[in-house]
Amino acid sequence: MSEFSQASLAVASPWWRTPEGGRLTIRGGAPLIGRYPVSGAKNAVLPLMVASLLTPHLVTLHNVPASLDVAVLANLLQRLGAHLSWSESAQGLSVTLSADRLHPARVDPELVRRMRASVLLLGALLGRQGEARLPMPGGDAIGLRGIDFHLTGLRAMGAEITVSAGMIEARAPQGLHGAEILLPQPSVGATENLMIAAVLAEGETIIRNAALEPEILDLALCLGQMGAAIQGAGTEVITIAGGATLRGAVHGVMPDRIELGTLACAAALTDGDLLLAHGRLDLLGAAAPVLAAAGVLLEETPEGLRARRAPGGLQGTDVQTRPYPGFATDLQAPVMALLASAAGVSAITETIFEQRFRHVDELRKMGAQIQVQGRTALLRGVPRLTGAPVLATDVRAAAALVLAGLGAAGMTEIKGLEHLDRGYDGMVRKLAACGATIDRLPC
Ligand code: EPU
Repeated sequence: MSEFSQASLAVASPWWRTPEGGRLTIRGGAPLIGRYPVSGAKNAVLPLMVASLLTPHLVTLHNVPASLDVAVLANLLQRLGAHLSWSESAQGLSVTLSADRLHPARVDPELVRRMRASVLLLGALLGRQGEARLPMPGGDAIGLRGIDFHLTGLRAMGAEITVSAGMIEARAPQGLHGAEILLPQPSVGATENLMIAAVLAEGETIIRNAALEPEILDLALCLGQMGAAIQGAGTEVITIAGGATLRGAVHGVMPDRIELGTLACAAALTDGDLLLAHGRLDLLGAAAPVLAAAGVLLEETPEGLRARRAPGGLQGTDVQTRPYPGFATDLQAPVMALLASAAGVSAITETIFEQRFRHVDELRKMGAQIQVQGRTALLRGVPRLTGAPVLATDVRAAAALVLAGLGAAGMTEIKGLEHLDRGYDGMVRKLAACGATIDRLPC
């Protein structure tokens, strides 16, 4: 399945067990009932782990999702010179990182190419060491995914950057300085990279048209605990007073709002009743009213979000992905799996990534009636999808296919499971505990 052997990842992440078996079988139709604990957010923990490189002191992160992306990033950071010490308890996985001395030259190109979030090493290494050398980052094949906003912002802060033959060489021999940066689009990664770089830069940095995603606020909270002076995170203008003397921090990673939204869909699709522990309605942004319109009943409880099917059943609705607080692009594929068997028609428009409809063909194999016109997928709901062999091509497509399989009649077989492992902590185990008939088997 993956070229990451258990042995190579276990050095930095002893908790990581590459799941055995390259295919997932799901016998659909069982209602999901019970308590499903939502893990810490993948897209929050990766920037937090990178940000820990800014300080030589101890940074402890709790509620870390035990996923392949975390294990890969841990490996990258360890090779750079960070020490990672892990602990597992009933509350989940925690890591304490310390980065006494870093060796920017030791970036592992193969690992960087696996993961988009590794581009954040540019901001951290430039800030801390004044130099960074990385291959162009990889990640899911969902669009062009340029890094021009990152590079333009870092250059405005004084970095000299060249890109040639797929390698990014960045230097700031005199250190970075503050700058006023207007992002052409509210890019999540660029906002994070520039925030991280600005913390140790000389003077004030202002990021305008910054991303509003909750993961930005989570990063700012942790950086703030480390001693950084950051104002406005969660708004369009973020101001960072650079040059702080950093200390250590202890921070709990925010719940994964994408896992939350996906499982809310699963509860409604299977006509089940899930308590999504740690889930909060506010994390869903515009997805909350969309899910409500589609027939997903959400109720806040002291322990989390309870999700069921609304009495009126599943209804088609229109969805347009937008930067937060708009409907998250990462929920587009899962919601498509839900709407594929909702009454009536739905139009799903993807505005963030150009190639994020690769799950459509797979859902069609399961009987979904979907036509793609440019950036819009038009769905005519069918009463029930039918199990089929399908292939996951990215993290969220993998979750969508799991969802489709849970709701379908008969057996679904999913391959491409590395994508599921990258983004989700124990999803198969957690689903089985809620009554899903799901098994991971050898190919
Ligand atoms: N963009 C550029 N140039 C840049 C940066 C972005 O053109 O320099 C474009 C992108 O191509 C895209 C848009 O701007 O069309 C938004 O990209 P953004 O930078 O916001 O996304 P990202 O930081 O690469 C993060 C998440 C994605 C999530 C998006 C949007 C992480 C590690 N990744 O990506 O998560 O879809 O924000 O919310 O945080 C996933 O988890 O499955 C995933 C893809």
